[in-house]
Amino acid sequence: MESSATSGRGTLAGSGARASRFVATTSRCGDGIADAGRGERCDDGNLANDDGCDARCGGCVDPATLSSTWAAVQANVFDRACTACHGDQPTAGLDLRAPGSYTAILDVAAAAGLYQVKRGDHAQSLVWLKMAKSSIGGLDDLPGGGMPFGFPLPRAIVEAFGAWIDAGAPMDGYVLGAEALLVPCDGAKSGASTEPSTPAN
Ligand code: HEC
Repeated sequence: MESSATSGRGTLAGSGARASRFVATTSRCGDGIADAGRGERCDDGNLANDDGCDARCGGCVDPATLSSTWAAVQANVFDRACTACHGDQPTAGLDLRAPGSYTAILDVAAAAGLYQVKRGDHAQSLVWLKMAKSSIGGLDDLPGGGMPFGFPLPRAIVEAFGAWIDAGAPMDGYVLGAEALLVPCDGAKSGASTEPSTPAN
């Protein structure tokens, strides 16, 4: 059993580690400062899981613990990159937190004749189009911004999400061609890069 993921919990809750005078070098999850350089996707100043930004500040989830491609979408896309805005406060009416996210998007009508996610068709899926607008580009006619703001997802992740949609957006099982969702620990931190990620060390 790996237990490393829980090691910081008790320590940080004491808030003795507040780093307001050392912002540039000692940022850690829970200090209220989202530090992309440390892989943080969000930081709401605490280590609670259900309030928009999770206890890992959107950090990487071990792919071995993900039981389906959909679970990988939730953990490695929505939880990391979206729920800070589409969670506790459902910006644009969209709540992408588990466990409601699947029914909140699947075949749910959205603006402009689109769906949030149109089963079997990524090109009619606003959630995909918003991500693609950021990461892939070429969607200038799509109203509003690309998602997420500020840190485009790696193209491989967005394409894998599209492959999952095209495969019928199944809740269970793994979708061939969506493997990138299951190995995002290096890639998802690197913003818009489309290069294959090189090992960190
Ligand atoms: C920093 C805040 C922020 C983050 C992070 C963010 N969004 Fe958004 N999102 C917004 C805002 C603001 C809007 C409304 C304006 C717009 O559409 O550009 C929006 C709108 C949307 C819409 C349109 C909903 C509708 O029905 O009009 C979708 C879909 C969406 N976001 C998906 C995502 C996804 C998927 C992610 C993660 C990959 C994400 N967003 C991350 C702020 C955010």
